[in-house]
Formats: sequence, structure tokens, C-alpha cells
Amino acid sequence: MNPLMERLGLRVPVIQAPMAGGPTTPELVAAVSQAGGLGSLGAAYLTPAQLREAGEGVRSRTARPFAVNLFVPEPPPPVTEAEVTAAVADLAPLYAELGLPPPTLPERVQEDFGAQVEAVLELRPAVFSFTFGRLGTAELASLHAAGILVMGTATGVEEARALAADGVDAVVAQGGAAGGHRGGWWHDERADTLALTRAVAQAISLPVIAAGGLMDAADVRAALNAGASLAQCGTAFLRAAEAGTSRPYRAALATAQPGQTTLTRAFSGRTARGLANRVTAEVRHPLPYPLQNALTRDLRTAAAKAGRAEFLSLWAGEGAHRGQEGSAAQLLAGLWPD
Ligand SMILES: Cc1cc2nc3c(=O)[nH]c(=O)nc-3n(C[C@H](O)[C@H](O)[C@H](O)COP(=O)(O)O)c2cc1C
Repeated sequence: MNPLMERLGLRVPVIQAPMAGGPTTPELVAAVSQAGGLGSLGAAYLTPAQLREAGEGVRSRTARPFAVNLFVPEPPPPVTEAEVTAAVADLAPLYAELGLPPPTLPERVQEDFGAQVEAVLELRPAVFSFTFGRLGTAELASLHAAGILVMGTATGVEEARALAADGVDAVVAQGGAAGGHRGGWWHDERADTLALTRAVAQAISLPVIAAGGLMDAADVRAALNAGASLAQCGTAFLRAAEAGTSRPYRAALATAQPGQTTLTRAFSGRTARGLANRVTAEVRHPLPYPLQNALTRDLRTAAAKAGRAEFLSLWAGEGAHRGQEGSAAQLLAGLWPD
């Protein structure tokens, strides 16, 4: 038991990582929290109304604390018409294979972050976590005023120092093995998770949460020994019965081999780790985030329906081949058997 666990009332020092895009259903989040860990709702792609509904869905299943997570936006970068044409040309043959016309950029490429934060303030989860950047002073102050514990994501020591200086309550140290998007905005060290955890724990005087490639009880124990207060595990929960992971995604995870993940910008324009497939191999001219994300959305939706894993973003950490099936409570017990 450490001060962060005590403050949150956790029995298990494990956060089920927020995973935007479907996996972190209210059922999964609630099951992890109910079993003594901290479930997190990946709400980045949800409208404020969907965020409220998902949060209420967690609350209707458990009275225990949970987290809500958002992506801090950057202004969409300017792109030339030639860049858009090249990105569409890369994707058009893949869309055609699913019987769809080439994609076009929608008007709206990301949710209204301010409105999402408002929804979080109304919902008042125990924890708000964020990635991709830093919060504004006013946002941080209103979250604190609502009694919400705030966690930011750092991919290197300098980012961790910046978040600490901003006034967050805890820092997630995301090592290079982590599945999903790289959370950094400044100096992504892509370091070994335990080495990064040690370095961040020495550099700041806040609780540190280790993330990246932590797949079993020995990994979680090692993260705590390296100075972490909690371990944040994403890939380990992707095949949970309660997760919203699509059928073809689950099938790809079930046969994942060591070394099969890759870092790619092909799906969203932002570097992320997932299982290599045709999109990671064939898309050569992605637009910057969030434009590429908008451009590939219909492809991913259609591919999930058609069971075509070669067109899906199969986000997963380097430990993907060590993942297991089971209920969320069973998977949590595998990460912390005590
Ligand atoms: C499918 C997937 C989606 C993710 N989505 C988010 C997200 O929405 N917000 C976030 O802060 N981190 C996200 N992450 C990163 C996790 O917070 C965490 O850093 C990562 O899962 C740790 O590595 P592991 O997958 O090897 O356990 C995601 C990871 C995965 C695998």
C-alpha cells in the first residue's frame, strides 16, 4: 500500500489503461475497479454526451473509483493539397478492396476538448488522465476544484518534469514497449519501461505510474521495485471478456508473435505501436494527426465489420504475444495475485 493507492482506495496497484476507440467499455472499466484496480475509460473519441453516458455506465456497475482519459489536442497542422492527394492515393486501393470510394477529409476532425473536459467535470470521476500534451492552467484548476486527481503522460524525463511543474498529481511514464499512441509531445525517449520509471521517479517528487510491456505479476512487481506506485497495463486487458476489442482484432492478438509490433503513423498520423499489417506496410504518405485519423476512420469501421484485420489499427505493446483471454477480474489477478 502506498499513498496513491491509499488516496484512491485501491487494493491492487494496477491501472487498466485507457484505450480509446472501443476496447475500454464501461463493463471493462467497472469490472477492473470492482476487483480493486483502477479501470480507465478511454474517452478521447467520444462526444461529450457519449462520455457522460459511458461514465454513468461505469457508475451504474460499481461505486469504486475509476479514471476518464482524454487526448490533449494540438491545432490541426496546415497541409497542402498535394499532401492530401498523396495520402488519399495511398488509401484508395485499400478502401476499394472493401467496396468503398476513396476517402475525403471531413469538416470535423476531432472532438471539442473543452466540451469533453466540461463533461468530465460534471461526471467527477476519481481520476482524470491525459496524454499527447499538457493541460492549461484553468483546466487543471477546475479539475482540482472538483476534487479530481490528475495524471499526465510523459515519454521522457523532461516531459515528466514539465508535467510536475504544471501541477499534476501523478505522472504516467510510458516506455517504448507500450501499445497504442506515443503520449509524448516533446522528447520521446522510447526507453525501457523500468529504466524510464527509475529515471522519472528520481527526477520528480510525485507518484509515478509505469506503462509499457507489463504483462504479468513479475513485470508489475518489477515496476513497483523500480519506483512506480502503480503499473498501467493496456495490452494485458485487450482480450478481456468485457473489453470492446473487435473479433478480428482479438484473433490477430491470439496469434501474435514476439517482435510483430511496429511503430507507425499510417493510421492516425501520430506514432503508435501495433501489430504490423497491410496498412502499416503500404501507407507511405500519412497526413499529420488528427487528419490521417479522420481519413482512415471509415476504413477501420468497415474492416471491423468485414472481419479484415489487415485494415485495422491493431494497437498492442511489445508484450502482445504474452496476452491472455479471461474475465477482467482473472486478468487483474494474474497481474497482482496477492
Ligand atoms: C489499444 C490501445 C489503446 C490505447 N489508447 C490510449 C488512450 O486512449 N489514452 C492513453 O492515455 N493511452 C492509451 N494507450 C496507451 C496506454 O495508456 C499505455 O501506455 C499502454 O497500453 C501500456 O503498454 P502495454 O499496452 O504494453 O500495457 C493505448 C494502448 C493500447 C494498447
